[in-house]
Amino acid sequence: MICRVPGLHLVATGSPRGDWLAGSNGEIQGARHSLHERMRHDHLITSKQFSRADIETILDYAAEIGDDPSAVADRHAGTLLGLLFFEPSTRTKMSFETAMKRLGGDVVDMGSIESSSVKKGETLADTVRVIEGYADALVLRHPKEGSATMASEFVDVPLVNAGDGAGQHPTQTMLDLYTIRENAGLDDLTIGIMGDLKYGRTVHSLAYALTNFDAHQHFISPESLQLPREVVYDLHQQDAPGIREHDSLEEILPSLDVLYVTRIQRERFPDENEYQKVAGEYQIDADTLEAASDDLTIMHPLPRVDEIAPEIDETEHAAYFEQAHNGVPVRMALLDLLLSDDKAIGGEGDE
Ligand code: NCD
Repeated sequence: MICRVPGLHLVATGSPRGDWLAGSNGEIQGARHSLHERMRHDHLITSKQFSRADIETILDYAAEIGDDPSAVADRHAGTLLGLLFFEPSTRTKMSFETAMKRLGGDVVDMGSIESSSVKKGETLADTVRVIEGYADALVLRHPKEGSATMASEFVDVPLVNAGDGAGQHPTQTMLDLYTIRENAGLDDLTIGIMGDLKYGRTVHSLAYALTNFDAHQHFISPESLQLPREVVYDLHQQDAPGIREHDSLEEILPSLDVLYVTRIQRERFPDENEYQKVAGEYQIDADTLEAASDDLTIMHPLPRVDEIAPEIDETEHAAYFEQAHNGVPVRMALLDLLLSDDKAIGGEGDE
């Protein structure tokens, strides 16, 4: 996937105040400033855009915001975020909306496809060109892989990929990494990623981002839902320390720090019969967990169908609701990095 060169699309997107949550030391401020220099007013399309240092800077900033959201409450007063969701969404859409409002801004929402001009045959390129005239940044979810890259070529305001078909979902990855860091740590991590690895965009984004860390990744799926070969190739290209594929959870479960469970993406199957062959293939319940470590953290991007039994929800293992809640501070941090003016973040102009 091709990303635009950072900084090529400078546009005036409101004037947030120049003050800033003082980072605890100059090093943090410097890292944040340099990431902001690269991210501001640019598009966010793929987790491949971020190095380990970038990820740590984003997660640290999200943690600061989570500790004291009032410190950034009016930073983006007057800023409007355009929401373009061509596929169903609850968490991603509502947490972007919450994040923008908690930064003092607001949203304009295209609404459902049924009630928009898409229904009349409008192209994606035309839709984003129109809405960039109304909003300071766009968040796009679309069923076609590559759609975010394509759409970003038609607009000057920052465009955030909120899921492009079976492609990528980079902001979900940031909140996933945040949750992993909080629960298990990102160093010396052994993670199992299970379910629909073929069509699951959260998996593709997360697996790539984890190659920045010392993470052993175990992929568990039926053969027909294995990771696409090009994703495996990409992971190996990053010299990831341990990438292994399995068709059963049993052998690997005891060694896992984190188990990331995903929904079988029924809507992406070209043939319903193929879906039926794998539906309900992997389910986690109390019996399954007898072989797991007491410290195992279970995650899921949600929505779940039947992959995780409700009896797990009340156990110490369950981190998926916390994971969804982390979407707000993480998206606040990302929106601020994308939308703040020069020197507003960690720069010399700070007070
Ligand atoms: C995921 C998505 O849309 O890719 N959900 C989300 O954003 N939290 C996962 C899914 O739909 O299964």
